[in-house]
Amino acid sequence: MKTIIEPFRIKTVEPIRMTTIEERRQLIKQADYNLFSLKSEDVLIDLLTDSGTSAMSTGQWSALMKGDESYAGSPSYYHFTAAVRDLMPFKHVIPTHQGRAAEHILTSIVADGHGQGKIVPNNTHFDTTRANFEDAGIEAQDLVIAEGLDTALEHPFKGNMDLDRLEKLLAEQADNIPMVETTITNNAGGGQPVSMANIRGTKAICDKYGKPLIIDSARFAENAYFIKLREEGYADTTVKEIVREMFSYADGMTMSAKKDTFSNMGGWLALNDDEWAEKARTRLIMTEGFPTYGGLTGRDMECMAVGLKEIVNEDYLQYRIRSIQYINNGLDALGVPVMKPAGGHAIFIDAKKMLPHIQPLQYPGQSLAIALYVQGGIRTAEIGTFMFGRQPDGSEKPAPMELVRLAMPRRVYTQAHADYIIECFEELRNNIAEVPGMEIAWEPSSLRHFTAKLKPLSM
Ligand code: F0G
Repeated sequence: MKTIIEPFRIKTVEPIRMTTIEERRQLIKQADYNLFSLKSEDVLIDLLTDSGTSAMSTGQWSALMKGDESYAGSPSYYHFTAAVRDLMPFKHVIPTHQGRAAEHILTSIVADGHGQGKIVPNNTHFDTTRANFEDAGIEAQDLVIAEGLDTALEHPFKGNMDLDRLEKLLAEQADNIPMVETTITNNAGGGQPVSMANIRGTKAICDKYGKPLIIDSARFAENAYFIKLREEGYADTTVKEIVREMFSYADGMTMSAKKDTFSNMGGWLALNDDEWAEKARTRLIMTEGFPTYGGLTGRDMECMAVGLKEIVNEDYLQYRIRSIQYINNGLDALGVPVMKPAGGHAIFIDAKKMLPHIQPLQYPGQSLAIALYVQGGIRTAEIGTFMFGRQPDGSEKPAPMELVRLAMPRRVYTQAHADYIIECFEELRNNIAEVPGMEIAWEPSSLRHFTAKLKPLSM
């Protein structure tokens, strides 16, 4: 059979409120042309993020009732840690309310009160990871392979770390590098996977210089499935075994459980080092909560425990990857410049290519995202100069890529929604040259894309 069906049935639905193009023109203006400022009720298809937006299963909903809300020693904590260790056998598993809380705690450990002069390399830091390090004075360096920055180039593992650059950086600066990170899949670089060989190679370099390797793991199951599909020697290995091997090369992980555990909230920090774990738990008590709940309820932890079992299901992963490819292929057939191959959680459009009349500092990605909302009520996210352009020293420079991300929530949208998305691009294509660039009317001092106010430039 060629057709891959959604491996679930729908039991509960959320109605979508329909709006017109004219209404959406007004709504986006009222939102100061920032898609984060829209009311979600005014969105038809919400592809802003795949984070916390999954449809939970009957198994997860029923597990919620088993949540034990004890302050200390809840059985839900033990269910949660057992489920994590079944896949990621770290010594210490520390719950946090979401991924960035784990990042914040990890940053405080590696900065150790003086981050200035330190460097943390990664294939590509995501926005909160970068912001946490930079806020502590640490330089966040991106060392993804050159192929990862060419959106049109087909390569099986475009999320790979450039091991030569990593080795060179460590040879020159080892004293200033407290840890090395790799992000699976590489979200800011198009949701592209990292190969097992590359994780192994990164670990070998880390070992040579005595540095811990931490995996930013939000989409670990999607990454593992790509390894199964694309890396020699893994076709007959189960995803669960692949996941275990990936994490066997790491000294710790940060996790946003809002992605690959189908949870609406949650995360964790896992570590092998006793001293780091002790520091992390002390910090956790100050900022998140007691170590057996972090910032979470018992029911959240039950939900993550069930989600971790469901996410490594290969029928699910096959549907997941194929449904993203379906949209990518549909857009590609229309001539829309999509990132190739398709990523694991999202379709990425190369806005530099789609809107060549708009300069990077006029935010072509943001312009496209706005046009897409007006056209079809589809909310997406810019990952380009609007997100990453402002430098820690206050200057502004173009980001390496101008992407618009169509992040697909897990188990939420159907194939008719996918066809609608493709059709919106078909309509949009006809008057793309009329889409104006943007300017920023106001921005905060950091992470500007969440709250900045924009204005269209006159053409
Ligand atoms: N790391 C990666 C790779 C992420 O994609 C995210 C979140 C985080 C860490 C932070 O986790 O949201 O639980 O605090 N990414 C979301 C996104 C928000 O839309 O891609 P969090």
